[in-house]
Amino acid sequence: MKNHELIEKNIGLMIVLTIVAISWGALAEIVPLFFSKEINEPVAGLKPLNALQLEGRDVYIREGCHVCHTQMVRPFRAETERYGHYTVAGEHVYEHPFLWGSKRTGPDLARLGQRYSDDWHRAHMYNPRDVVPESIMPSYPWLFKDKVNHKLTGKKMEALSMVGVPYTQEDIAGASAAVEGKKEIDALVAYLQQLGTVLPTKR
Ligand code: HEC
Repeated sequence: MKNHELIEKNIGLMIVLTIVAISWGALAEIVPLFFSKEINEPVAGLKPLNALQLEGRDVYIREGCHVCHTQMVRPFRAETERYGHYTVAGEHVYEHPFLWGSKRTGPDLARLGQRYSDDWHRAHMYNPRDVVPESIMPSYPWLFKDKVNHKLTGKKMEALSMVGVPYTQEDIAGASAAVEGKKEIDALVAYLQQLGTVLPTKR
């Protein structure tokens, strides 16, 4: 009883103890996830992005596509009917950082791969209104002009392999040649076309 009174009358101590109690709760929820196979093991067939797709992902990040588009299908009927299989953690173990996003001004893109042709994507990125007249998405004409910086691709793969992405020495050695001379739009479309294709889903 005495101790209780002491805490209630001493706001500094109360703050410290509250933080300890909440942190303990958070740890008890989060730490077990590090050891859960379902969460930290890749799903069957998952491969790291190839050189061109990796550059495309960087264009996606630079242009802020993730600000309007999520890459996470939630496990609700309304979502799986529209987009396909809900997202599972094992699909994203090679992503650093992940691009799940939180705001959908445009549709979710987690299962976009192979839904449209490359030509559709190119037309849509050049000017979305050419294929979707009511679209409010911005145009990205400079992607058709600018080339990928091939000198950095190998280094990016090296950095990712340090955090556990299984790139081989050959992948890294061949990265620069694989993207040299490619336009940014080629990289972006290659990236978009593989999104979510590792799980079977309706398209
Ligand atoms: C200002 C918000 C906004 C930004 C930024 C944006 N989009 Fe969109 N996006 C939309 C909207 C709205 C739609 C739906 C209309 C349409 O299809 O154009 C859309 C549709 C799409 C679609 C078609 C999806 C489908 O299932 O039909 C793709 C692919 C896409 N966006 C890719 C991108 C990429 C790649 C980028 C970054 C280079 C990007 N978007 C940036 C708003 C945005």
